[in-house]
Amino acid sequence: MPDMSTDTTHVAEAREEEFEPRIVALFCNWCTYMAADLAGTSRMRYAPNVRVVRVMCSGRIDPQFVMHAFARGADGVLIGGCHPGDCHYQEGNYKALRRFRLLRRVIESLGVEKERLRLEWISASEADQLRKVADEMAADIRSLGPLRARVPAEDFPDAAGEGEEPPPEIPGESRVKEVAIP
Ligand code: FES
Repeated sequence: MPDMSTDTTHVAEAREEEFEPRIVALFCNWCTYMAADLAGTSRMRYAPNVRVVRVMCSGRIDPQFVMHAFARGADGVLIGGCHPGDCHYQEGNYKALRRFRLLRRVIESLGVEKERLRLEWISASEADQLRKVADEMAADIRSLGPLRARVPAEDFPDAAGEGEEPPPEIPGESRVKEVAIP
């Protein structure tokens, strides 16, 4: 009788070698998405593993977006936002940073390597940085292999633990606020 265990090992090894990660990239419309657009129009080549989803601001990224991506087959999630101080909605990227830190802890508790979730500040003119980050993340996740942990698809409670609604705008009051770097 042939040794099936050796065959199975070879099949698993071949699969690992063929593995190409699926990376969901949630990019802010005003900066990282534009950097991806610039990379495209400049004919820069970067990892095709990255599938871009445009959001208006990194602060718009609900923790459920990330959890659902993992639950539905993403091997990695990349969040891209404007540099600190440059968010078009004042402090959306600070909110994104707080959520990112919490989400990394949550995914680790589910057995997902924290490197599978990455946050980068990339402005509209930084197409080369976008290319570098996309290539790096694809390589990192390729070396981690496919996502093995099972992430539940059910609703994920708001991980931000903060008031979601921005304060009402007071006519005549400046929209620019001092924001402490967390
Ligand atoms: S508008 Fe880009 S992070 Fe808020």
